[in-house]
Amino acid sequence: MVYLTRIEHFNAAHKLYNKSWSKEQNETVFGKCANENWHGHNYELYVTIKGTPSSETGFVFDVKQLSVLINSIIIEKLDHRNLNMDVDFMKGKMCSTENLAIGVWNELEQNLPSGVFLHCVKLYETPRIYVEYFGENRGRQ
Ligand code: NI
Repeated sequence: MVYLTRIEHFNAAHKLYNKSWSKEQNETVFGKCANENWHGHNYELYVTIKGTPSSETGFVFDVKQLSVLINSIIIEKLDHRNLNMDVDFMKGKMCSTENLAIGVWNELEQNLPSGVFLHCVKLYETPRIYVEYFGENRGRQ
């Protein structure tokens, strides 16, 4: 099994705010991410797929095509958007990097062509903070 990663980038606004908590509690837990009037992050998205290299191309998958797919499925929906308000698959969820990575995984899994197997969605919110999601079925593979 070979793992192939494509890195894409997007900028987006969000706010972390639990409406059932007081303003003070939100600020204590979420810090600057609780700012009422939004703020932005420069996200870096690492999408890793897995497979066996083709005997004809030597590729697991055409990485240029993978980039086109990630852009059409994910980046178009997220780049320069408000994650809380503009993104269908984040509606009603806390817009944490964790939940965003899960949402990106689910969107990709539903829309990638058959034969492309996701391994990991890694999402950097800042150069020093990232989350990784491997799907819910990892233990059974
Ligand atoms: Ni934030």
